[in-house]
Amino acid sequence: MERPATALRRAAVTAEVAAEVRRRFGTPCYVYDRAALEASARAALAFPAPYGLTLRYAMKANPSRGILALFRDLGLHVDASSDHEVERALRAGFAPERIQLTSQMPSRALREHVARGVLFNACSLHQLDEFGKVAPGAAVEVRDLYALYPDYVIDVPAEQAACERARLIVWQHPIQWYAMPPLMKLWLDEVLTLGWAYGRGANGPGAALSGKDVWLVASTGGAESAYRPEGYNRYFFDAFLPPYEQTAALCGLRFLPPLLQHGAHAVGAEGLRRHVAAYRERLASYPDWPEMAELEPCPACDMPPGDRPADPMAAEKAAA
Ligand SMILES: Cc1cc2nc3c(=O)[nH]c(=O)nc-3n(C[C@H](O)[C@H](O)[C@H](O)COP(=O)(O)O)c2cc1C
Repeated sequence: MERPATALRRAAVTAEVAAEVRRRFGTPCYVYDRAALEASARAALAFPAPYGLTLRYAMKANPSRGILALFRDLGLHVDASSDHEVERALRAGFAPERIQLTSQMPSRALREHVARGVLFNACSLHQLDEFGKVAPGAAVEVRDLYALYPDYVIDVPAEQAACERARLIVWQHPIQWYAMPPLMKLWLDEVLTLGWAYGRGANGPGAALSGKDVWLVASTGGAESAYRPEGYNRYFFDAFLPPYEQTAALCGLRFLPPLLQHGAHAVGAEGLRRHVAAYRERLASYPDWPEMAELEPCPACDMPPGDRPADPMAAEKAAA
């Protein structure tokens, strides 16, 4: 069956129309059928979408200004695949908030785009990292520990400042020996300091993280079936979580249900795509997660003084 837009297009460019175009504009000349474009856009806008729908025109299909203006007026948003396309959409009158940059090639103007309010669809961890660098404190800030601290010398004030800016802290890492990798553990040792992250009651010293959320996003080599009493890891994966949960609790952090990718080496492209989509959706919808209302608040853990070694530099720091 012929699609209506195709039928319309064939009917519109008759020999007479072509002759008229040649007479008025000369050749070669591109001819677009406004009615067909409009009909397609309206059909897509009318898709049933009980949870809402943002219709984006992938402008790489045809970035002609006239087409952009038509879709702009019909209320479409734009998916731009390069810095040039972002620029072109802006010049065609799209508000920055209606433009989303989705590009495999890293953007050279990301800082300007983000400052203007253009949306950015990070297509790789590298791009997410770049976004974190140009927009620290924005919706998502990424701190790739092995890239930042290849020498294991962690900038504690910078890490603490990043945590203070955040409402949700994500600990993202592969599971190694049923726990976190060494640099992540060093991060806990050095960044979660007594008197800043824990020790003393709510709102007092040691409450910098109190009331925030922490979310573990981890991958395992073992399949989910391996994390069962009959599997070679002998325990459900939950059995490895208490050190995380209690670290969070001591700091007044609410520990959210982890997002796990089991069997990371065997997951395949489609499985990986699903995992990334779930991760992205969760970040975008935080804190409006369905299970939030049922989560227990963070338990109060008041550690008595003397349970940690005294800071040998305390007197020096107080004098400074
Ligand atoms: C040193 C080391 C220890 C690991 N220990 C575990 C483990 O205890 N349990 C498990 O399921 N996978 C383990 N793995 C597999 C990793 O979890 C897996 O390679 C990772 O999740 C894959 O993600 P990546 O490609 O981001 O590294 C280990 C891997 C390494 C290198």
